[in-house]
Amino acid sequence: MALTTPLRVADILLTQPEDQILNVSGWVRTKRGNKEVAFIAISDGSTIHTLQVVAEVSRFDEELMKKIQTGAAISVRGKLVASQGSGQAVELVAEDLSVLGEAPAEEYPLQKKKHTLEFLREIAHLRPRTNTFGAIFRIRHTLAYAIHHYFNSKHFYYVHAPIITGSDAEGAGEMFRVSTLDAGNPPRKEDGTVDFSQDFFGKEANLTVSGQLEAELAALALSRVYTFGPTFRAENSNTTRHLAEFWMIEPEAAFFELEDNMNLAEDFLKYLIAYVLEHNADDLAFLEKRLLEEESQIAKDQRSPMPLIEKLRFVLDNPFERITYTEAISILERSGKKFEFPVKWGIDLQSEHERYLVEKHFKKPVILTNYPKDIKAFYMKQDADGKTVRAMDVLFPGIGEIIGGSQREEDYDKLSRRVDEMGIHRESLWWYLETRKFGTVPHSGFGLGFERLVLFVTGMGNIRDVIPFPRTPRNLEF
Ligand code: 4AD
Ligand code: MG
Repeated sequence: MALTTPLRVADILLTQPEDQILNVSGWVRTKRGNKEVAFIAISDGSTIHTLQVVAEVSRFDEELMKKIQTGAAISVRGKLVASQGSGQAVELVAEDLSVLGEAPAEEYPLQKKKHTLEFLREIAHLRPRTNTFGAIFRIRHTLAYAIHHYFNSKHFYYVHAPIITGSDAEGAGEMFRVSTLDAGNPPRKEDGTVDFSQDFFGKEANLTVSGQLEAELAALALSRVYTFGPTFRAENSNTTRHLAEFWMIEPEAAFFELEDNMNLAEDFLKYLIAYVLEHNADDLAFLEKRLLEEESQIAKDQRSPMPLIEKLRFVLDNPFERITYTEAISILERSGKKFEFPVKWGIDLQSEHERYLVEKHFKKPVILTNYPKDIKAFYMKQDADGKTVRAMDVLFPGIGEIIGGSQREEDYDKLSRRVDEMGIHRESLWWYLETRKFGTVPHSGFGLGFERLVLFVTGMGNIRDVIPFPRTPRNLEF
């Protein structure tokens, strides 16, 4: 049988059945039936639903029918009819069947049964074929698309920040080195240290931790810009919220102050959630059901307070709480709760503190502002009190920090002093400092961790399950 461009399963399922002849290709999810008739459910990833193919066994070669097993890729030409069974509106009565690729049952690891997410991580090359991961990756796509759509409609230009850099945007020193030197025998200077002047770029190079600094340069010309690219952090954090390679969206806007920045962040997040509710209703319904089943196994007080879709609507319908860091500390101190990390002004908030504020105290997203300057990056605008900076973190239920951002220090002298105070290598940032000399203006921006957003929207519990191929400490398969 010749291959002709197949229709998508998603489209076929919405087609009025009139005995028309159609082509479809996909992967077999299940085959059941008896000696006379086989019911083959096929998926092509275009929807969470499968198309039922009905094959009259006697019409087809026995060897061929044997190869039609879970995981095999098949192509079908058939007649679209109203389904006689319940559970689907239409089905395809096969006239021609061919196997494009077999999947021997003794070897194919994705047999129709429940698999743990941990097991599926070990077969990340195949997991997109499951309902759960199909739904997650379709939603991930929708979110990426909606991000560009949102910024385009708000007249923000997409800029591409470099991935290889010579600077450390966050000043935290958590970078992956990029080098072509022989690791076993690098050239050395007289004092014994590695001579990076002989390296590919003639100096030390790293994978970027953030596109912010370059986005700032662009914002100081184009006014409103954003980046959306991969970022890399060599922090040894083995948590359900950290990846070594993740995607970040970083808008940056000239003439925006902290309050404009908060408004943008809240509007942006709500737009994205609303967009997925509108465009991925079936996927969300599936993930919600999955989560309810999963959580029925655990103690009541550990379950999500609301089903997934209700949670998403709740975030849309309620204004985010906006409080300062100082107010947050006082709420935590008055809570009477014994935290593992004791609370006092000046501490970096731990996830237990953030979760208390969001999940127990306010029960909705919170934007925390004006953090102590010593726990935040060098580029944040200093407040008049000399103690805090115009930072803002957006905290989400179940996630903690989803956005980190700030108004930027636009004053050359203040910024320059901060760079020195924090021991930052100023030679690698001369160009950044120079923007404060030439036509500097107030400006602000933030970074949204893309996978944390996908985590929130899908209701999944581990960030490794919302990116196709996670990179985490000691894990670089695929
Ligand atoms: O708070 P962060 O470190 O902020 C920045 O990088 C700024 N340059 C952003 C800006 O102002 N333009 O990171 C921003 C967000 C976090 O809120 C979190 O959602 C996500 O990036 N993030 C991570 N996501 C997954 N794995 C990690 N290791 C992450 N580190 C940060
Ligand atoms: Mg942060």
